[in-house]
Amino acid sequence: MKREALSHNDTRGGDTRGGADRRAASAAQAARAVPASRGSEACDLRRQTGLFAWGLPLAQAGGSFWLPDPASTTAHYTDYLFYAIFYISAFFFALIVVLMTVFLILYRRRDSRSKADKAPSHSTVLELFWTFVPVCIVIYIFAAGFIGYMEMRTAPPDAYEIRVTGQKWKWFFTYPTGYVDENLHVPIDRPVRLVMTSRDVIHSLFIPAFRLKMDLVPGRYTSTWFHAVRPGEYPLLCAEYCGDNHSSMLAEVVVHEPGRFEKWLEEASNFMKNLSPVEAGRILYQRQGCAQCHSLDGTRKVGPSFKNAYGEPVRFADGTTAVADENYLRESILVPDAKIVAGYPPQMPPYQGLLDEDKIAALIAFIKSLSDAHADEATPPADADEAPAPDASP
Ligand code: CUA
Repeated sequence: MKREALSHNDTRGGDTRGGADRRAASAAQAARAVPASRGSEACDLRRQTGLFAWGLPLAQAGGSFWLPDPASTTAHYTDYLFYAIFYISAFFFALIVVLMTVFLILYRRRDSRSKADKAPSHSTVLELFWTFVPVCIVIYIFAAGFIGYMEMRTAPPDAYEIRVTGQKWKWFFTYPTGYVDENLHVPIDRPVRLVMTSRDVIHSLFIPAFRLKMDLVPGRYTSTWFHAVRPGEYPLLCAEYCGDNHSSMLAEVVVHEPGRFEKWLEEASNFMKNLSPVEAGRILYQRQGCAQCHSLDGTRKVGPSFKNAYGEPVRFADGTTAVADENYLRESILVPDAKIVAGYPPQMPPYQGLLDEDKIAALIAFIKSLSDAHADEATPPADADEAPAPDASP
């Protein structure tokens, strides 16, 4: 985790002076934005557990060389423990190196004929000391970790629930309205609980800014929660190696300003009604994970490109051929393994039961619009002025 957190920090922290300003601004923002209840709860806990007190100044100073800006109510548990272990290790490293150097000089062999003194074989005081001190340190680390762990495991009862599905190599976030998005949008004014599972292999949801990491396991649900304290966008990544495109299994956490989340959800949930099939298909292409494996410009990725796919003959792995018409595309979306295009691995997950007929039609319309010969057969966009030209796609 350290390394990922570090590289994440690197990508953002180019200008340290700007970073300090930003942190000051965001700290002020956080002070305003944290709802009184949970924010002060966390502070009370911190005060009660004097345990954490001495790690506080550093953990509150915002992002550092080691960790990105903390942006959730429980991030400080991880930060305290990280810095506690870091300083304990640094102290003992320095102590051992200094003592070793001093003893090397003090007890070096000065005369080539001298013999070494007999070493003392036993010292009860010393042995008690080097047993008792490490035991105390280990108990301290356990206690601090256990308190933080329990807090981070136990979701508040009023948490807003979002379902998360991991799939090679894409995240799906399903909101209570049934709407599915490829990014995690959350309100700032309440805690959020994530109920997660995977469609294929084990993935791991990792949000460095929230110090949040939890596995998604096929065939069962796992859950975690967080309460964001700062509006903004934060990277979300997969932290469990899950195959070829593991490193591109990325998404964003968008923390909305108070009151904005509900508006966003309503607008986003109605995109099928408000857009033409081609435009809706373009959005589905991004949100349903097609973009991970199918390019729009003819580039070969894990699956065949959508560019000029419609209406062209396709050769399959078993030697047969067919023309890519609506029925072929529909079947390939719902049951991809029915016909495998020659030269491509049978990697695509089935979408049976995941897309309704409107969405399948929108995806087919979008694929049609990418075909030079058949683009005009796709339903034209509702507003020709605003609609992007089919070929101007990325
Ligand atoms: Cu999913 Cu790595």
